[in-house]
Amino acid sequence: MVKKKKRKTTRDRWSSHWIFLFAAIGSAVGIGNVWRFPYLAGKYGGGAFLIPYLIVLFLLGIPILILEYALGRRMQRGAVGAFGKINSKLKGVGVNAVFVGFIVCAYYSVVMAWSLIYFLHSFRVSWAPNPKEFFFTNVLEISSNIRFLDGINWIIFAALIAVWVLIYFCVWKGTKSVGKVVMITMPLPVLLIIVMAIRGITLPGSLEGILFYLTPNFRALFDIQVWNAAISQIFFTLSIAFGIMIAYASFNAEMQIKKDAWIIAVINSAISLIAGFAVFATLGFMAARQGLPVSEIAAAGPSLAFIAFPQALSLMPFAALFSLIFFITLISLAIDSAFSLVESVSTVFSDKFKKLSKPWIAAGVCFVGFLTGIIFTTRAGMYFLDLVDHFVTNYGLVLVGVAECVVIGWFYGAPRLRRYINRDADWKLGKWWDFSIKYLCPAVLLYLVIAQFVVDVTENYGGYPDWAIWIGWLVVLAPIAVSVVISLWPGKR
Ligand code: PFF
Repeated sequence: MVKKKKRKTTRDRWSSHWIFLFAAIGSAVGIGNVWRFPYLAGKYGGGAFLIPYLIVLFLLGIPILILEYALGRRMQRGAVGAFGKINSKLKGVGVNAVFVGFIVCAYYSVVMAWSLIYFLHSFRVSWAPNPKEFFFTNVLEISSNIRFLDGINWIIFAALIAVWVLIYFCVWKGTKSVGKVVMITMPLPVLLIIVMAIRGITLPGSLEGILFYLTPNFRALFDIQVWNAAISQIFFTLSIAFGIMIAYASFNAEMQIKKDAWIIAVINSAISLIAGFAVFATLGFMAARQGLPVSEIAAAGPSLAFIAFPQALSLMPFAALFSLIFFITLISLAIDSAFSLVESVSTVFSDKFKKLSKPWIAAGVCFVGFLTGIIFTTRAGMYFLDLVDHFVTNYGLVLVGVAECVVIGWFYGAPRLRRYINRDADWKLGKWWDFSIKYLCPAVLLYLVIAQFVVDVTENYGGYPDWAIWIGWLVVLAPIAVSVVISLWPGKR
């Protein structure tokens, strides 16, 4: 039985509810909104992609976000402690979430390091006229394939140090410092995205790009790949299954769980949509200038942010100004997402080791995060980043999502948590939520993992050699193994 003893709480607290909203939106809105969402929409059916995207958002994304907020608020612990309070054998679910988040942070910070390098080159728009070569040869100095590490690229290494110092000074005092930083890093990039969207739409040729972005191809809805893409995007974009939203909610003494989850999710997706306009209007302009179809220019992930978009910027009037704006946007978008990942880990340690001071814990986490990221600063770093990202987002994340739903749906009891959510709630949560958490989410997510597994065992992802694929599997299995050991470790919780 839980003894109800009033204890003076020393838990870190957001200084206001607004700050919590800013921090949570800051975590959700990241580089993923600017490069991943528009690219997926363009590739998977244009406007029709919005249909699976929104269905997944409402049926899976928001319910799991509500679950995480409720858990964090209810248990007043980070991910590990929150699951541990349900049953100490369940701590592993939290460990896995935080571990996966930590790996994402290790490479997310490297993408920030690239952005920082581009920011410095923006003053002279150094990539014009050859942005592809600039990215691969000048910035990454990429090796011929994943077999050749070819040593560390010291410029990226130095930029990575700078990024981690930046992250550290955002999180070193926990909610106090984070609260101040998010007042700038949340609204600034949103404003800049709006500026870029307006700028993009007013460029000649932008309409072609926007049409490419939004013209619906309803046949895409019958393609399972499209649904997979929508699900992994929703997880990534809402920052769910990383332990962050649990930690952030645990710093609230009061919150409107359902209402807050809706506000955060809707704002996040609205920003993705607007970012799509900025990106495709600009690519349309470039396509028109070069006499190419937009589809040839709309490239994936890093290529979009570091090749196609910079090239388009270099063709604009005031190229240096808009390049600076774009890379400030990327960095400020990414920083609050990156430090939310650090917060998720530090919260777990400060829950456990109450005597350790926050700045020291944060320093330790940042240092290990930096060390882990070094592999991505080698000349084969981009290949490793691609590989690790594939395995972590397709398996690590989704499996954590399944585990969270199973624990709450089948073990803790979805109706029980829903009753808690509905106490003093302005917006009541209906019974459909229980159904979503108990059946719908785990079934869909499991199906997704299995479908992806079938693909990954039949062909090597990205054509990488077997040993590299094993590294990918290791990145999935190591957190699971550690979680199991910690869960089964004898002792009190
Ligand atoms: N939500 C961020 C984005 O879309 O870029 C990425 C992210 C941040 C994922 C934080 C996970 C996370 F914990």
